[in-house]
Amino acid sequence: MIKKHDRQKNEKGRNDPRAQAALPIDPAVKARQFQTLRGMKDVFGEDQHRWFLLEKEARRSAEDYGFQWMETPMLEESALFVKTIGRGTDIVDQEMFSFETQGGEKVSLRPENTAAMVRAYIQHGMWTQPQPVKLWYWGPFFRYDRPQAGRLREFHQLGFEVLGDASPLADALLMIQAVELLGSIGITVDVELNSIGCTTCRPTYIEQLTQYYREHRSSICAECKKRLGKNVLRVLDCKERGCERIKAEAPQSVDALCEACKDHFMRLLEYLDERDVPYMLQPTLVRGLDYYTRTVFEIVVREPEAAAASGAAPASKLALAGGGRYDGLVEFLGGRPTPGLGIAFGIERVIHAVRNAASTVPEPVEKRVFVAQLGEAARRSALKLFGKLRQQGIPVAHSFSKDGLKAQLEVANALKVPYTLIVGQKEVLDHTVLIRDMEGGVQEIVAEDRLISELQRRLSELNGVKAVRVPAPPIEPDEPLDPEDIEVL
Ligand code: HAM
Repeated sequence: MIKKHDRQKNEKGRNDPRAQAALPIDPAVKARQFQTLRGMKDVFGEDQHRWFLLEKEARRSAEDYGFQWMETPMLEESALFVKTIGRGTDIVDQEMFSFETQGGEKVSLRPENTAAMVRAYIQHGMWTQPQPVKLWYWGPFFRYDRPQAGRLREFHQLGFEVLGDASPLADALLMIQAVELLGSIGITVDVELNSIGCTTCRPTYIEQLTQYYREHRSSICAECKKRLGKNVLRVLDCKERGCERIKAEAPQSVDALCEACKDHFMRLLEYLDERDVPYMLQPTLVRGLDYYTRTVFEIVVREPEAAAASGAAPASKLALAGGGRYDGLVEFLGGRPTPGLGIAFGIERVIHAVRNAASTVPEPVEKRVFVAQLGEAARRSALKLFGKLRQQGIPVAHSFSKDGLKAQLEVANALKVPYTLIVGQKEVLDHTVLIRDMEGGVQEIVAEDRLISELQRRLSELNGVKAVRVPAPPIEPDEPLDPEDIEVL
């Protein structure tokens, strides 16, 4: 029996537009089963283990490479993305989930995170912290793309952003980190790489490109004809077969680089060579976002594996990750001039690749080592050493963006590592490394070829009974190392 006050409540509800909006009154809607929206997915079953595996390795990688976690909101002002990603890009022109809130704010579900991280860097005054500020994130992103293999409307990214480091070594480290991270979950990849120059040299390139495409206007698609007038670099993003053909003969950005950009790019390649990073120059790679300067790159599954893995599933041919430098972005958003760079991995694409690869994950070793360097040659050698130690499963940290030994030893102290390895010019010439015991402050020279076994011995000793140690002496200022303090092993 329906009581009077219930009946009154029902009557009231029927007249209340909010209650009506909340109730699915259409019987057809009531009868059918709900599904996820097009281009969106539930993650469950076996995939959950792959997600956890990637998350675990990402966390470890972030820690080893000195990144702090940052989570930003899923909604931002639409203008943030329009301004940074740029009009004329597919993301801004076609793919944003945008709407107006009840309060009249124009907002968008985030299609990517670099703009938001830079917004956060400025908003929280992070330029006052020691630079570079290294941030990492993991979360959902939204693009109203045409759903197809490897392209979702809700997808997830894992990203690393570095703010305040102009060195090409930072670019190299990001690529090394990406290759290692994917390697740690069983995926072999290549880095596709280009430099698109800076505000000095880019205008020349844009002129050359515009000229070229004007000459070939009749052979490009209708969309590219529009892009040509608005944002010619975006013509290079087009995947139409006819446009791809014209692109193959287009002028290349590397030929128009100014001296500073050329030097940056050459040094980056040297660092990559030093670590045998598998890279391929991709002269027309420009990436579909406007904020990039100099280095742009994408990480792809190595071709034979991609083909063998899934009968050439299209998703395996798509980039697992993409990134680059954005040296003007902080200033563009109202901050101080601050160089920046980053990378984001598409998690669903990585998971797809893990499914196609046999993966084994080494357990992290407990004790840690810090690699410090003094001088350019030493930095290169230290970079190599850093990789060698990680390969051997020795958890190792660095602060390559710092030049002075004192500053680096301070970082090592803060990380509480038991040993710091110091590489100076002399060590490079002598093929040696200095091991500094961070508790006792004693430093010893070790020949490069004996370093790993010596470290392994010391680290395993630390796991057993420790010798009595004296407190560490204060860190010396940046002076040449005193040979008197050093006992040759
Ligand atoms: P992006 O290339 O647009 O770059 O996206 C990075 C990665 O996210 C892609 O390589 C891909 O794996 C994944 N991804 C993108 N769109 C989709 C989609 N519709 N469905 C599935 N996966 C997708 C950026 O987002 C830049 N913020 C990267 C960056 C960080 N640059 C500097 N820092």
